[in-house]
Amino acid sequence: MIRFERFYAQNNLRNFSYLIFDDATGNAWVIDPYEAAPFIKYIRKEGLSLKGILNTHGHFDHVRGNDELVRTFNAQVKDLGPAGNLLLDETSSLEIISTPGHTLDHKVFIWRCSGEAPVLYSGDTLFNAGVGNCKNGGNVDLLFDTTKTLTSLLPLDTVLQPGHDYLKRNLEFALSVDPDNSVVKERLRLVDEDPLKRPPLTLKEEMEINPFLRTEDKNIFIKLRSLRDNW
Ligand SMILES: [Fe+2]
Repeated sequence: MIRFERFYAQNNLRNFSYLIFDDATGNAWVIDPYEAAPFIKYIRKEGLSLKGILNTHGHFDHVRGNDELVRTFNAQVKDLGPAGNLLLDETSSLEIISTPGHTLDHKVFIWRCSGEAPVLYSGDTLFNAGVGNCKNGGNVDLLFDTTKTLTSLLPLDTVLQPGHDYLKRNLEFALSVDPDNSVVKERLRLVDEDPLKRPPLTLKEEMEINPFLRTEDKNIFIKLRSLRDNW
């Protein structure tokens, strides 16, 4: 059975990194390691075998643990093309999808297993209650197109696993542009400072609170991104 672990960097960047492993074979894959040490500890404790490191994009905070994991486990950073599938076990795989916007080379990974809700590892494309900025090599027009395409590919029960925890700040912004949104108000009231205590949101829940998903208008999306950049 495939199992999932989430790691969180307690600093201003608030990165999430992920481990996916098959508990039958011990084969494991890391996504966007901010720090190597927690992965090394976990992989050794569980007796896993690291098969590869996957990065959604090349920004330093998503790759900074790569080298130490490569050295420690003689593992490889998977050089993924713009699309494809990485088989994890007999029944499930990670689908790789190109999602230009935050950066031009950004990719997301979708865990798919028949009979299970998909899991989206969205890096800095889609956050809870927000989307990535386009200030470091990105393009906001592309991010709009990418966001629409990506959400159309996924069922509403998809589990969202973003690259950062910006939920509180994003909810505050969402409320500033959508002040009558009672779901945003309620989530903001309940938001916990420790993101590891929070269950991940589904796409259905995200659609209720994310102003960038709640507009079909590219110009409004671009305006929202610009407001958020300066907020
Ligand atoms: Fe980034």
